Amino acid sequence: MATLEPLTKRKAWKALQAHYEHVRALHLRTLFADAPQRGERMTAEAAGIFLDYSKNRITDETVKLLIQLAEESGLRSRIDAMFGGEKINVTENRAVLHVALRAPEGASILVDGENVVPQVHAVLDRMADFSKRIGTGDWKGHTGKRIRNVVNIGIGGSDLGPVMAYEALKHYSDRALTFRFVSNVDGTDFAEAVRDLDPSETLFIVSSKTFTTLETMTNAHSARAWSLAGMGGDERSIARHFVAVSTNAAEVAKFGIDTANMFGFWDWVGGRYSMDSAIGLSTMVAVGAENFRAMLDGFRQIDEHFRATPFARNLPVLMGLLGVWYSDFFGAGTVAVLPYEQYLKRFPAYLQQLTMESNGKHVTLDGAEVTYATSPIYWGEPGTNGQHSFYQLIHQGTRLIPCDFIGFANPLNPLPRHHDMLMANVFAQAEALAFGKTPEQVKAEGTPEWLVPHRVFEGNRPSNTILADRLTPEVLGKLVALYEHAVFTQGVIWQIDSFDQWGVELGKVLAQRIIPELESAAEPEPGHDSSTNSLIRRYRKLKKAR
Ligand code: F6P
Repeated sequence: MATLEPLTKRKAWKALQAHYEHVRALHLRTLFADAPQRGERMTAEAAGIFLDYSKNRITDETVKLLIQLAEESGLRSRIDAMFGGEKINVTENRAVLHVALRAPEGASILVDGENVVPQVHAVLDRMADFSKRIGTGDWKGHTGKRIRNVVNIGIGGSDLGPVMAYEALKHYSDRALTFRFVSNVDGTDFAEAVRDLDPSETLFIVSSKTFTTLETMTNAHSARAWSLAGMGGDERSIARHFVAVSTNAAEVAKFGIDTANMFGFWDWVGGRYSMDSAIGLSTMVAVGAENFRAMLDGFRQIDEHFRATPFARNLPVLMGLLGVWYSDFFGAGTVAVLPYEQYLKRFPAYLQQLTMESNGKHVTLDGAEVTYATSPIYWGEPGTNGQHSFYQLIHQGTRLIPCDFIGFANPLNPLPRHHDMLMANVFAQAEALAFGKTPEQVKAEGTPEWLVPHRVFEGNRPSNTILADRLTPEVLGKLVALYEHAVFTQGVIWQIDSFDQWGVELGKVLAQRIIPELESAAEPEPGHDSSTNSLIRRYRKLKKAR
C-alpha cells in the first residue's frame, strides 16, 4: 500500500474544513428553497435500493470535496485490494473476503494462490442438503423423532447475524420449526430458550469461528448436559442433536461434535461479516436454500455496484462519506438507524457490531494515534415505536443526530391502512427533522407567546431515506452489503484497520483471572485495584448468603 499523507493533511480534508465553516450556517430550508430539484437530484439508486440523501446538510460542493477525499485516500485501490484477496487486515495478517461468500460459482478469488470460491460453494451445498433434511424430517433426533426446534448458540457475529436474519426473514421461514438464539453467558438466556423444548426434538447449532469463546463454550456445555439428560445420558445422541459451525475443526472435535457434522468457514471471514457464511446455517434452515441463495445474490449485486460504480453514484460510498462529514466536521457522536419494518427489529443491534467493532479504533494502520473522530455510536429502534420514546431528543434536543430511515413500498402483512400510515410517518419524520417549524408558524397557530419556544422545531436535522420495494431475502442481502461497504469506505478514509477487534481482548483476559477468584472455596487474595478487590469480596459474601 502506497504511503498516504495523514488524513488531516490531505488537500480535500483542508478544503472540507474551510467549507464546513460555510455550510454549518446553512439551513435545509434555504438549501431546498434555492434548488427546487434538490430532492430529485440528490438521490442515487442501485439494484432496486433508492437512497435520498437530499436532506443532509450538504451542497454540491460538499459532495465533490468528500469524493475528492475518498480519491485522495486511495479508496479505489483499497476496494480492489479487498476484492483481490490482499491481506488488508494488517494486524491479523488476513485477507478480508466476505465478498467471496457471495461470489457466483465459477468466479475466481485467490487467497495465497488458491481459488476459494469452489470451497464456498461446497459448504453452501452441504448446508443446503442439511437444511433440506431438517425441513423434510429426514434428519431425525436420537429417538427417531423429527427435529422441531433449532437453537443457535453463538455470540457477537456468530449470533447477531443469525438472529437478525431470522427475525428479518421470519415471513419466509418454516413455521413448523421453532428457532431460538442463545448468546449471553447469563444462564437465564439458555434456561429461557429451552424451558419449553423437548430435547428429543431439539437440534443445537454451536456457532463459533474460534470455538473457544467463553460464553459460547459455556452455553454449549450446558446444552450438552441438558440434551444428554433428556436422552438418558446416551452419548451417541450428541451426533444427532449437535452440529457445529466453525473454522476450528480441532476444537470442535475436542468438544465432542463429529467433524462430519461441522460446517466450515475461513479466517478471511470476520465474525461480524459472517452471516452469509456457514454461520448463516440457522437462517438457511429457517428459510430454505433458495431464499438463502437469493439473499447472497442481493449481497453480490451491491458488491458489484460498490466495486464498479463511480463514487458520485455509489450508495455505500455516499453513505460512508456522509458519516465522515457528520462525525469529523459536525462532531456528531451518534447515528440513529430507524427501520420502518417490524421484521428489521434487530437490524440496529446487528449494525452496532458491524460498525463499531469495525471502526471503533484510535490508531491508524501504522499505529499512529488518530487526531480525528472515528466511528460514531450506532443505535436505533423500529419506527414508529421510537417516535414515542427518543425522537423528542432528535427533534428538539441539543445534539445533532443524523438518521437513516429505512422503508419499503410494500408490506409483508398487508392490513387495511397500516402500511400507508407507517410510511406516512417515515416521510413526515424526515420532513419535520429537516424543515422544522419556525416561531412565526407557531405564533400563527395562535400559540401563546410563552409557549412558543417550546413548540418551535429548529429543523436542519439531517437524514437519509432508504427505500426498497419490499423486504425479501434478496433485499436484506442488499441492505447489509450497503452498510458493510459504507463501513469499509469510512475505515479507508480514517486509515484504520476495520477488520480487527483487539479492544475486546483485555476484558476477556481479566475475566479469566477473576473467575477463579469468584469460584474458589478459599478466600482469595485478589490483587486488583481497591474497587475491584472490594467488589469481589462483597460479591463472595453476598453469594454465600444464597
Ligand atoms: O469478542 C468479539 C468477537 O471476537 C467477535 O468479533 C466475534 O464475532 C465474537 O467474538 C464471537 O467469536 P466466535 O465466533 O469466535 O465465537
